[in-house]
Amino acid sequence: MKNYVILISGRGSNMQALLNANLPVRCAAVISNRPDAAGLPWAAARGVPTVIVDHKEYPSREAFDVALGDEIERRGADLVLLAGFMRILTEAFVRRFAGRLVNIHPSLLPAFPGLHTHQSAIAAGVRVHGCTVHYVTPTLDCGPVIVQVAVPVLPDDTAEVLAARVLVQEHLAYPQAARGILEGRCQWVAGHVVWQADETAAAAALRVPADR
Ligand code: GRF
Repeated sequence: MKNYVILISGRGSNMQALLNANLPVRCAAVISNRPDAAGLPWAAARGVPTVIVDHKEYPSREAFDVALGDEIERRGADLVLLAGFMRILTEAFVRRFAGRLVNIHPSLLPAFPGLHTHQSAIAAGVRVHGCTVHYVTPTLDCGPVIVQVAVPVLPDDTAEVLAARVLVQEHLAYPQAARGILEGRCQWVAGHVVWQADETAAAAALRVPADR
């Protein structure tokens, strides 16, 4: 693979983890749909080209997605990493980048798709929670799993405390998945994720905080 782009809407901590991971190919651009995304100055300071495709400047979701897709293709990206990109993508966009579009979601999918995952996990009384890196398919938060990491849900957890525990693992899981794809050790085959045999186990982890 030649290069990748990262799509953000806000803070960009997963973007930072990806850019800090020294992935084997270059990041062609960080693209944000929000001009005020906090991650943009950080990426620019690292010398990564930053681009704004502001969804408010387009008459429809479809028109925005076409412009976004054209920008990605202009950059020559063969992998698109969604990192806190808070826009629902059209089916046309997802099909355009099928097998090249990856997202990180803060739950163990298929549990808790959508927003407010940490609060939902606590409310449901689950004992493990975590994050999922997955290929994007037209149904929201439903695509084939690339990497999953589980963490415990502890009795005194608030949504914020649990989110912080999960986020630490997001920052490890996303670079692991991206590296696997970029190095050809993880592949999208007919809509399924195939890791090299000796790496299958590494794509699933249970990480309990050391202080517990
Ligand atoms: C992360 O929890 C990610 O899983 C979710 O949105 C959050 C984005 O955080 N999709 P950041 O912008 O990467 O810091």
